[in-house]
Amino acid sequence: MIQLHDLHFQPYLTSEEIQETVQSLAATLEMKYQGKNPIFIGVLNGAFMFLSDLLQNYTADCEVEFVKMKSYQGTSSTGEVKIELDFPDLIDRHVIVVEDIVDTGNTLVKIDELLQTKSLKSLAYCSLFLKPEVYNKDLEIDYVGMAIPNKFIVGYGLDYNGLGRNLPEIYQLKKAQND
Ligand code: IMP
Ligand code: MG
Repeated sequence: MIQLHDLHFQPYLTSEEIQETVQSLAATLEMKYQGKNPIFIGVLNGAFMFLSDLLQNYTADCEVEFVKMKSYQGTSSTGEVKIELDFPDLIDRHVIVVEDIVDTGNTLVKIDELLQTKSLKSLAYCSLFLKPEVYNKDLEIDYVGMAIPNKFIVGYGLDYNGLGRNLPEIYQLKKAQND
C-alpha cells in the first residue's frame, strides 16, 4: 500500500506486466508503420513514461513531439480541456497520438478536433489504458494496451494531484473501509 496526499492506493499492475503490454504495442505499431517514419505525439504530462518505453521498443525510423492538455483535477475529469502546449507542423505526416489513459475521452476529442485541420497523411490514436465503462465517444482508439475498470489509478506517468508519476508500477485507489 502507498499513500499520496490524503489517499491510499494498492498495487494493481507490476512493472513486468506494463512492459509486456508496451512491447506488444510497439511491435504492432512497427509492423503497421513500416517505411512511413511516423511522428509520435505524446500527450503531456501523463504519457511521458509510456512514450519513452514505447519508443525504446520501436526500432524503425520515427520522430517524437509533445502536446500538453489539461482536464483533470484531483480524481475526476473537469470536462473542460485546455491546450497548454500546441502541435508542431504536421502537414503530410503519419501521426500517432499517444495517451497514457483514455477516460471520458474529452481530451482526445479535443485533440482530434484540432488535428482535423492540419492536413495529415494519416492519424491514429494509441493509449496504454482505456476505461471502457466511462468512454462514450465515437472516436476510435486504434491501439489500446489494456482495458481497465473504472477506478482511479496512479503510477507510470499517471498522477494524483501531481504525485505518483515516478512509480514504475500501477496502483489503484483503495476504497474507504466502510464503502
Ligand atoms: P479524459 O479526457 O477524461 O479521457 O482524461 C484524460 C486524462 O485524464 C488522461 O490523459 C489522464 O492524464 C487523466 N486521467 C484519466 N483517468 C485517470 C486515472 O485513473 N488516473 C490518473 N489520471 C487519469
Ligand atoms: Mg494524459
